[in-house]
Amino acid sequence: MLAAGKGTRLRSKTIKLLHAVAGRPMVVWVLDVANGLTPTRTITVVGHQADQVKAELADTGTSFVLQKEQRGTGHAVLQASRAIGAKRGTLLIVNGDLPMLRTATLRKLVNGHEKSGAALTLLTVQVEDPHGYGRIIRDKTNRVERIVEQRDATREQRRVNEINTGVYAADPEKLLRVLRRLRPDNDQGEYYITDAVHHLLAKGEPVGAIHHHDAEETLGVNTRQELAQASQVLYERHAEALQDRGVTLLDAARTWIDPRATVGRDTVIYPGVFIEGPCSIGSDCMIRPGCRIVTSKIGAGTEIKDYSVIVESRIARHAAVGPFAHLRPGSILDDGTKVGNFVELKKTRLGRGSKASHLSYLGDATIAENCNIGAGTITCNYDGTNKFPTVLAKGVFIGSDTQIVAPVKIGEGAYVAAGSTVTKDVPKGALAIGRGKQRNIEGWVAKRSKKPKSKKRR
Ligand code: UD1
Ligand code: CA
Repeated sequence: MLAAGKGTRLRSKTIKLLHAVAGRPMVVWVLDVANGLTPTRTITVVGHQADQVKAELADTGTSFVLQKEQRGTGHAVLQASRAIGAKRGTLLIVNGDLPMLRTATLRKLVNGHEKSGAALTLLTVQVEDPHGYGRIIRDKTNRVERIVEQRDATREQRRVNEINTGVYAADPEKLLRVLRRLRPDNDQGEYYITDAVHHLLAKGEPVGAIHHHDAEETLGVNTRQELAQASQVLYERHAEALQDRGVTLLDAARTWIDPRATVGRDTVIYPGVFIEGPCSIGSDCMIRPGCRIVTSKIGAGTEIKDYSVIVESRIARHAAVGPFAHLRPGSILDDGTKVGNFVELKKTRLGRGSKASHLSYLGDATIAENCNIGAGTITCNYDGTNKFPTVLAKGVFIGSDTQIVAPVKIGEGAYVAAGSTVTKDVPKGALAIGRGKQRNIEGWVAKRSKKPKSKKRR
C-alpha cells in the first residue's frame, strides 16, 4: 500500500490518509480489504506523518518502509523493493486513498493477472468525469499502450474516460526492473508508477487491464467532498446488509452504523443514531432517536431511549436505558435493569433487576440484584485525589436525594432514608438515616406577619 503522500487538497494539518471514513482512517480500510485476500504479507510505504500512520496500522500485521522524500508513486514502490524481496508470486499495489475497494475486486484482479501471465495488470474503470485521474490510452487494436496523467494529457487524451484506479497486480521482478529506469520527465517531476506501462511494453512484456464495472468503488479520495462521499458509501453498504438480515432502519440515510458493528434481527433503529466502533446489538432491540453508542454490547430485547450516550459499556437483555442517560466506560447493566433519565454511570455494575430511574450519578459502584436507587442519589466516589468504591448487596433500597460518601458498603436488604448522607457502612437489614432532624415551629407564619415591616424594605 502506498501511503507516504500528504494529500494537500484536503487543506488539513493531518495527512489525507489518516482522515476517517466511516469512523476509521482510510488506510485502515484499505489494508483490511487487502488482508481479506490473506496475502503472504503486506508492506506499507510511509512518509508524511509516518509515526501516526504506523500507529493506526499497528494491529494489521503490515510491515513498513519509509519513503523519506515523496518523489512519486513509482519511487514509493521502489523503496519497498528490498522488503518485497520475492522474485515469484504476485505483487498487488494499492493506493492508500481507496477506502471503498472490495476484497472481491482485488481477487478478480489478481486472478485475472495470474491467468494471463502479464507482467503488469491494471484495474480500470469508466467514469463520467475523469478529471484528475490517469487516462488509459489504448492502441488501434484496443490494447493498453500507456497511462497519461491529467496534467500531462493532451486535449484529446483528456476526453478518454477510462481511468487508472491506482490498483495494480504485477510480476515483482519485472516491475521493479523497469521502475529503476523511470525518469521524472513529467509536469510534476515525479517518478510515476504509471510509466511502467510503456517501459514494459517497450521490452516486449505484456501489460493487461481488468475492467471493473463499479466506478464508485475505486473513487480516490482527494477532497473533503470525496471524503464525505466515501463515508456515505460505506455506511450505505452496511445499512443495506443489515436490512437484508432483518434489521429495521426507519431512515437509513440518517443512521450511522459502523461497518464493524453487528445488529440482530427485528431490532428497530430510529434516525439520528450513531453506532461507532465494533458494537454488538442484539435482536429485538429498540434504539430511539439521537442515541450514540460506542464500542458497546447490548443484549436482546433492550430499549435505548432517546438521546442516550453509551460508551464502552455492556448491557444485557431486556434492559431499559434513557431517555438522556449517560453510560460511561466500564458500565455493566445486567438483565432487566433500568437506567432512567439524567442518570450517569461510570465503572458501575447494576445487578439483575436493579433500577436507577432518575437523576443520579453512580461511579465506581457495584450494585447487586433488585436494588432500587432513588431519584437524585449520588455516589461521592472522589475526594479530589483518589476514587473509592461503593458496594450494595442485593435488595438494597436507597431513598431519594442520598449521598453515599465512598468507600461504603451497604448490606443485604438495608434501607437508606431519603435525604441521607451516608458515610459509614450499613449492616444487613438495617435502616440508615443520616439527615438533620425536622423541627416544626408552631404558629411561626402568623407571628411573622404581625411584626412591623422594616423601613429598609420597600
Ligand atoms: C494516481 C495515479 C493515477 C490514478 C489515481 C487513482 C500516479 C502517477 N497516478 O494519481 O493514474 O488515476 O492515482 O486514484 O500514480 N504516494 C506515495 N508516495 C509518493 C506519492 C504518492 O506513497 O511519492 C501515495 C499517496 O499517499 C497515495 C497514492 O500514492 O496513497 C496515490 O498518490 P496520489 O497523489 O493520490 O496520486 P493521484 O494523483 O491521485
Ligand atoms: Ca489519489
